[in-house]
Amino acid sequence: MGLRFSMLLLLAAPLSAEVRDLKGFFQARCAVCHGADGSGRGPNGARLGGRNLTDARWLAKQQEAGLAASILKGRGAMPGFRRQISEAEARRLLTEVIPKGAKGKAAIPEAR
Ligand code: HEC
Repeated sequence: MGLRFSMLLLLAAPLSAEVRDLKGFFQARCAVCHGADGSGRGPNGARLGGRNLTDARWLAKQQEAGLAASILKGRGAMPGFRRQISEAEARRLLTEVIPKGAKGKAAIPEAR
């Protein structure tokens, strides 16, 4: 299933408890570099060093499997998370938790 199709499904589906947990995981482990909204910026707008995950043009060119592999193995300055999450969870981070890039808006309602 492509990232874009998954995004459409997300709009229709309520978030499960498991996804809420993954949101907490994102806030705890990813937001330090990618921002609470995934934009790669902190609350004051400063760049945090992580890639902007809300960049729709970039996202459209990515494959879900490749991004999940990056999360698990690490990439560049990003550490790998394979000890903390499974591949299925990495994919759910990508399809259900990480911001979807529509006009730079975050898809993490609880983001602070
Ligand atoms: C220490 C800072 C840091 C943390 C923590 C971090 N990232 Fe990253 N992330 C980066 C950087 C830097 C890049 C760009 C890597 C590159 O392409 O060189 C990146 C890239 C990515 C990418 C794109 C990978 C690709 O193949 O292009 C995804 C997706 C991603 N991060 C998700 C996450 C998720 C999910 C978490 C939490 C589980 C996370 N990141 C935690 C710094 C971080």
